[in-house]
Amino acid sequence: MHRRGALFNSHTPRDSQIVKSPSRSGVFQAKTDKRLEAFAESISFDQRLYCQDIRGSIAHATMLASVGLITAEEFSQIEDTLREIESEIEAGKLPIQIELEDIHMHVEQALIDRLGDVGRKLHTARSRNDQVSTDVRLWIRDALDQVDELLQALQRAFVGRCDADFDVILPAYTHLQRAQPVLAPHYWLAYVEKFARDRDRLSDCRRRTNQSSLGVAAVAGTTLPIDRDQTATLLGFDSVTANSLDTSSDRDFMLETAFVLSVIATHLSSWAEEWILWSTVEYNFIKIPQAFCTGSSIMPQKVNPDTLELTRGKSARVMGNLQTLMLLVKNLPLAYNRDLQEDKPPLFDSFDTVIAMLELAAPIVAGSELQTDSISSRLEQGYLDATTLMEWMISKGMPQRRAHHLVGAIVGEAMERKVPLAKLPLEVMRVHAEEIDESVYECLGTANAVAAFVSYGSTAPDQVRAQIESWKERLN
Ligand code: ARG
Repeated sequence: MHRRGALFNSHTPRDSQIVKSPSRSGVFQAKTDKRLEAFAESISFDQRLYCQDIRGSIAHATMLASVGLITAEEFSQIEDTLREIESEIEAGKLPIQIELEDIHMHVEQALIDRLGDVGRKLHTARSRNDQVSTDVRLWIRDALDQVDELLQALQRAFVGRCDADFDVILPAYTHLQRAQPVLAPHYWLAYVEKFARDRDRLSDCRRRTNQSSLGVAAVAGTTLPIDRDQTATLLGFDSVTANSLDTSSDRDFMLETAFVLSVIATHLSSWAEEWILWSTVEYNFIKIPQAFCTGSSIMPQKVNPDTLELTRGKSARVMGNLQTLMLLVKNLPLAYNRDLQEDKPPLFDSFDTVIAMLELAAPIVAGSELQTDSISSRLEQGYLDATTLMEWMISKGMPQRRAHHLVGAIVGEAMERKVPLAKLPLEVMRVHAEEIDESVYECLGTANAVAAFVSYGSTAPDQVRAQIESWKERLN
């Protein structure tokens, strides 16, 4: 479904002589200005909808035959010819004729060229307005499924690291300052949770997208005896839309899609930023596989995390596309307006970008190596266990505010002596709080501090272990 590059025969000159296009029959007597043709065409980008367009047309023709608007014989000619046209497009053999504007007219004109009047019947009780909405809904539905699969693969990559990295302790940061110690898998599962919400949003968005617009025709429906339920069923839609005016104008499903993709891009961007930092000499927490890095033309020692930087950078276009779509639909009166043709480039671009980012993220997550020696050599810096000490004092009956104050003073003392809390002599701590006894050392040091956690959702080893097992099951 995701085809980049031209499907059509691009050798046809764009300025070929004008033939009268199907949409210029009727009142038109003047030829279209060449500049308008170039300005108004969408075939350069909506050719990506050819499969969906043909699928929709076959469903529409099936219905026309079953309600008696065309004969069974006409239907079978239409169906066979549409499939033939589909293979020609697939093979890049159908020429682009810019005066045919869009994918809908290219397919229909090819049909008419081959079948004459029988081909001219396909557009019965149909408009390009309901046609384009139907095509895009079908396209988005498949694209959402593809993104969902890639997100699942990325979740698997994170979960796949959890057992091997289980004993690695990392600093958790708030304000990018060392805060509390956590198990590495707690980090990995943080991203798994974010992507789970993304997948939930995708399926929610898919539900609202998966409704049939077909049969709404231009704007008011049709006087002909069509069966909208039949085309909806044939195309795998859950239901038909209920108001033709609304449907002709509705692009909410695209806005939602663009939003969901933006949230995914945000998550990927934050992850990329984190691992870019982690891969610096300053952090030295992780090594990104060289296959996903590039060098410098002047500095021979450089291994740059370009994939991650571009993931961070390209997220901007996904968010920009959402903005473009929002601005495109704002202030449009009911119902279809040609402005809406501009919806497809940002939509396609958001999918292409997010899909490319996800395809690269999973192998990077699976193949990166935690620099455990470097991490552990500095883990006792930054007083990651200070909050644990405070909670130890609370558990001995001390009010939180007093414990917070006293631990602050104890940490100050340790800083002055340049030692971690676990190396601070008992008598020094007791100067500040005489409630403290020898057993305090059982909660000091990052390993003890991690082991002391108990709450649901925390980095407590039992909790993390249970979450890993639950995710393994859910992703199976
Ligand atoms: N290419 C158009 C689009 O993408 C198709 C619908 C055109 N409808 C019309 N009445 N001109 O929106």
